[in-house]
Amino acid sequence: MDWLARWQNNKIGWHVDAVNRSLIDYFELLELAPGASVFVPLCGKSLDMIYLSEMGYTVIGVELSAIGVKQFFVDNSLPYSVNQINGFVLYESERIKIYCGDYFSLGAEHLSSVSAVYDRASLIALDLDLREKYAQHLAAIIPLDARILLLTLIYPQHQMSGPPFSVSNSEVESLFSSAFQYRQLHCFNDIDNEPKFLRAGVDYVENAAYLLQKGRE
Ligand SMILES: C[S@@+](CC[C@H](N)C(=O)[O-])C[C@H]1O[C@@H](n2cnc3c(N)ncnc32)[C@H](O)[C@@H]1O
Repeated sequence: MDWLARWQNNKIGWHVDAVNRSLIDYFELLELAPGASVFVPLCGKSLDMIYLSEMGYTVIGVELSAIGVKQFFVDNSLPYSVNQINGFVLYESERIKIYCGDYFSLGAEHLSSVSAVYDRASLIALDLDLREKYAQHLAAIIPLDARILLLTLIYPQHQMSGPPFSVSNSEVESLFSSAFQYRQLHCFNDIDNEPKFLRAGVDYVENAAYLLQKGRE
C-alpha cells in the first residue's frame, strides 16, 4: 500500500469525522492518571487524538505522511511548531505531538512517558508480515505495564482485499500473548454500519475490541 500516494490523492476513506465509539466506551479501562500520555501509532489525522487531548491527556502520534500531519493541525485550528528530532520531523501543539516518519524507526526513548496505546485502524492497516513486525516492535518500545486499547475487524478475507485487513481473535492472541496480558472486550457483527463492506458483498464484518497490558518481557 502506497500510503503517501493515498494522502497525496486524498484517498483516505478510513478517516472518520467523529470520535470512535469504542474509545469513548472503553478509555476508562486504560486507567489513565491525570495528564498521562497516550501513544497513537499510525495516527493519520484521527479526531480521537482531539478527544484524548480535550480530556487532559498528552497524545504522542506517529504518521508517515506530512500531508496527514499538517491537515490534522490545520483542520483542528491547532497552532503547532515543527522541529527535526532524531530522524523525525516532530509537529507539536500544546498537548499533541506527532512524529512524522516511520513507526518502525520509533524507539523506546520516544515513548518513555507513555502509559497507554490506542490502536484504531493501525494494526489492521498492515498485511500479515507487517502485523507481526508491528506487534513485536510495539512490545519493544512501550513501557512495561502500558495498556493498549486495540480495535480490529474480522471478515471473510477472500470476499474483499485489505486494507483494512481481517485480523482474527486467534491472530491477536498469537501476535500479543507472549508479551501482553490480553482480554477481548467485545466482538459483534456490524455489517449494517459498514457500507463499503456491504457494497463489496461481504457476508459479515465483526467489530472487535481488546484490552492488552504489557506484562511479560
Ligand atoms: C488506515 S490509516 C488509519 C489512521 C488512523 N489510525 C485513523 O484511525 O484514522 C493508516 C495510517 O497509517 C499511516 N502509516 C502506514 N504505515 C506507516 C508507518 N510505517 N509509519 C507511520 N505511519 C504509517 C498511513 O499513512 C495512514 O495514515
